[in-house]
Amino acid sequence: MGDVEKRQDRSPAPAAFEYVSSRESRDLVRLAERYGLFIGGDFVEPRSGEYLATVDPSTEEPLAEVAQAGPEDVDVAVKAAREAYERRWSRIRPAERAKYLFRIARILQERSREFAVMESLNGGKPIKESRDVDLPLSAAHCFYYAGWADELEYAFPNARPKALGVAGQVIPWNFPLLMLAWKIAPALAAGNTVVLKPAETTPLSALLFTDVVRQAELPAGVVNILTGDGRTGADLVKHPEVDKVAFTGSTEVGKAIQRELAGSKKRLTLELGGKAANVVFDDAPLDQAIEGIVNGIYFNQGHVCCAGSRLLVQESIAEPLVAKLKRRLATLRVGDPLDKNTDVGAINSRAQLEKIVALVESGKEEGAEIYQSPCELPDRGYWFPPTVFTNVAQSYRIAQEEIFGPVLSVLTFRTPEEAVEKANNTPYGLSAGVWTDKGSRILWAAQRLRAGVVWANTYNRFDPASPFGGYKESGFGREGGLHGLRPYLALGDGR
Ligand code: NAI
Ligand code: MG
Repeated sequence: MGDVEKRQDRSPAPAAFEYVSSRESRDLVRLAERYGLFIGGDFVEPRSGEYLATVDPSTEEPLAEVAQAGPEDVDVAVKAAREAYERRWSRIRPAERAKYLFRIARILQERSREFAVMESLNGGKPIKESRDVDLPLSAAHCFYYAGWADELEYAFPNARPKALGVAGQVIPWNFPLLMLAWKIAPALAAGNTVVLKPAETTPLSALLFTDVVRQAELPAGVVNILTGDGRTGADLVKHPEVDKVAFTGSTEVGKAIQRELAGSKKRLTLELGGKAANVVFDDAPLDQAIEGIVNGIYFNQGHVCCAGSRLLVQESIAEPLVAKLKRRLATLRVGDPLDKNTDVGAINSRAQLEKIVALVESGKEEGAEIYQSPCELPDRGYWFPPTVFTNVAQSYRIAQEEIFGPVLSVLTFRTPEEAVEKANNTPYGLSAGVWTDKGSRILWAAQRLRAGVVWANTYNRFDPASPFGGYKESGFGREGGLHGLRPYLALGDGR
């Protein structure tokens, strides 16, 4: 152990605060025993006759059964979306479309507590995050695109922008409602109708959203929600009457979708995985950087495509930084997602937990040194403690592959050039972080990091006006901002 770390260890340990549990009321949400498919403005029984159970990942308690939509169900939903497009949505004035989106945004705000509980109950994320991040950002996204709905001609001057028709959208389980908002808001603002498939482990906030759609009196069939697993997603993206496909999820499935759509007229955007570098230079304010590192990898249990999962630290400050980080880890409260004190919630599913465990094992076997927060984990449910690996070589799987869990790999560098080279040594290119006192160094690094978004002296900061998306195997197309409208429009000059 280095001198600096020893010195750090003699300073008083952070007080272990005992918190009185402050649980958000679960009674804010009402669950049905069973949900059908939301098609043409109503819930219908799935023609497939199949259902799947959805659970609370923090307890493994079954919450409800949701329909597993089959090919016939997909066909009915796409036809409903087509009809709504032809008869209603493509004919109403753009300002009317804006009105509906404004309504949806306001209803999300009004019902945000209820949605936050649903999100944490079904997905395992801390209520603090669903309340303060997922919900406000979801509403903000709808407000933002509501503003564009009747301004498309100004967004794309002289290009006669026109809606594409029916959008088939498939989303993941890490930000269920936020990803729904990211998909639905620009699609509707641009004048398209939607068939959306939420992830199989987190369908409940999308099903609750159908209530918002009805409350907003959105014309029937403009938004259709099909629950089901990957098979439903595959049926949806290949349906011949879908004009535009938007997918967020694994790189593996993204590649499969791209192959499926090759040579078709369908437009495609993919938002896939990441292995972001969070780069800390020796002149960075360390305590602030620690907060950014913690936010970068332990926010939402690390189930974040843009997570700062590779920490690149300048060698001269590596020891004190890692020592501070370990101390900070011990103060993270892991546990009940509905407790307002919780910092790190449950892993989303058994499958994801198994993937995290396997990659962490590979890290140990390959020779990295592991440190885990000494927190107590609940007996039931899916849990993994906040974890840091040091002594990580670039070739290790934990430095290469997306873990999508609360696991950080620490690597070091000596010069800024080496930092950039290591940061870019990944098949992904979604995000990166830079920590330094010098503005010039921020600009220097941002120009060289091959990532769709580069955060400077902060991390995981989002705004609906700011485009988000990747390079390389992180996908293509942008969501958010003016850029996020483009994939939902045909421009008159043939683009
Ligand atoms: P996934 O890519 O299989 O699932 C994402 C969505 O795609 C779900 O709605 C799923 O039902 C659907 N899907 C699955 N197979 C499909 C297919 N053939 N055609 C169309 N849709 C399909 O991701 P999964 O298996 O849940 O997670 C595996 C890994 O993927 C994670 O460990 C993580 O590394 C990465 N991932 C990345 C995400 C991101 O935000 N970029 C989100 C979720 C997962
Ligand atoms: Mg999968």
